[in-house]
Amino acid sequence: MKLFGTSKINENGNLSIGGVDTVELAKEFKTPLYVMDQELIETTIDKMKEAFKSSRFGTQIAYAGKAFLTTGMAKLVEKKGLELDVVSGGELYTAYKAGFPMNRVHMHGNNKTYEELEMAVDYGIKEIVIDNEDEIEKIEKICKEKGKKQAVLIRIDPGIEAHTHSYIKTSGLTSKFGISLFQANLFDIVKRINNSQYLDFRGFHTHIGSQIFQSVFFIFALEEIFKYLDKLKKELGIVVHTVNMGGGFGVYYKEGDDPKPIEEVLKEIITYTEAMEIKYQIGFSELNIEPGRSIVGNAGTTLYTVGGIKETVGGKKYVFVDGGMSDNIRTALYQAEYEAGIVNKLEEKAEDEVTVAGKLCESGDILIQKGKLQKAEVGDILAITTTGAYCYTMSSNYNRMIKPAVVFVKDGKAKVAVKRETGDDLIRNDEIFEL
Ligand SMILES: Cc1ncc(COP(=O)(O)O)c(C=O)c1O
Repeated sequence: MKLFGTSKINENGNLSIGGVDTVELAKEFKTPLYVMDQELIETTIDKMKEAFKSSRFGTQIAYAGKAFLTTGMAKLVEKKGLELDVVSGGELYTAYKAGFPMNRVHMHGNNKTYEELEMAVDYGIKEIVIDNEDEIEKIEKICKEKGKKQAVLIRIDPGIEAHTHSYIKTSGLTSKFGISLFQANLFDIVKRINNSQYLDFRGFHTHIGSQIFQSVFFIFALEEIFKYLDKLKKELGIVVHTVNMGGGFGVYYKEGDDPKPIEEVLKEIITYTEAMEIKYQIGFSELNIEPGRSIVGNAGTTLYTVGGIKETVGGKKYVFVDGGMSDNIRTALYQAEYEAGIVNKLEEKAEDEVTVAGKLCESGDILIQKGKLQKAEVGDILAITTTGAYCYTMSSNYNRMIKPAVVFVKDGKAKVAVKRETGDDLIRNDEIFEL
């Protein structure tokens, strides 16, 4: 099991994160438990900010809240000077309640409701990213009623088929997101938005997918966008302010994954954009990105307690843990792969071939299909690494499972970011109606 950031084996022979022993964390906060390495999040952001700079144009990084968002995380993002990308009224509300500056918030979504758009306009967010033609009228109507003008980007789909799982691919000619660069009326859409008295057209956004290892796909997308910006400038005289390249930078999950260091990927994007700018002389002002997974993915570890071990007659060995698809649905949803270790046995060889299964009533409730583990025993604390992104945010109460706590660890201290749910949380909105 590869260790990241401040994770190490401590003097007791146990995994410690942020200077806190995971055996103690499991005792104090119970399992399952999401543990976030705060220092790793902070140093990753610092590296990204350092690499994503240009002398030819402005740059801005927005954290994609869909990867992991709580009010505490929003505060950390604010403190580190990033902007924030939200995709729903719920994420926007979380940021608002955390006191995140609304003029640093971008909003996405292929079907933002009227209420969500109203909320975005009322809060005065920086930009709404228009995903499709139906949205234009809705935002105009809201702005007209409120006497406001809203800055917008258009999400375009450059038709780049990045090599990643189809569920996390967001570009290509049949994507549900954005307006295709090859759509015949895109010029008319741009003209319409650019001429609107209620909309301030700022530029284009694209996001070609997630967990992308080959940076060449970002370069292909940039190339398409710059060709289009050139056409727009020459034929309509429109020069955009912003180009947002989205997120999607791949991270290490399991042996064999070999992501380029994020600083290198970001430097490549800057270098290539500078070259495109020299070639086409567009004169755009700002390049944005919105990474999620690459900021929090490796910073998260989930702790579980082993409750049982079963060897089937078919020769498969299961290690059962006290969570499952309710706290991490990624394996069931898109065959994600992870590494695991027993927190007090990490110095032992991981030679046991096992399937780590959850406790939910689904055969598909698997966390690791096939992995190598130290010899597990009932009562052991099992850690799964790289669970910082898209695990807590995708968690559910299926089987009326209570959602685990989230703790941030740093400098030997653990701070609760989300309390562990209770039975009462589960029934809070239930009503016993007259039968
Ligand atoms: C529009 C948009 N931006 C940013 C992201 C963040 O992607 P990642 O977490 O892979 O960096 C996503 C993820 O799906 C997205 O849809």
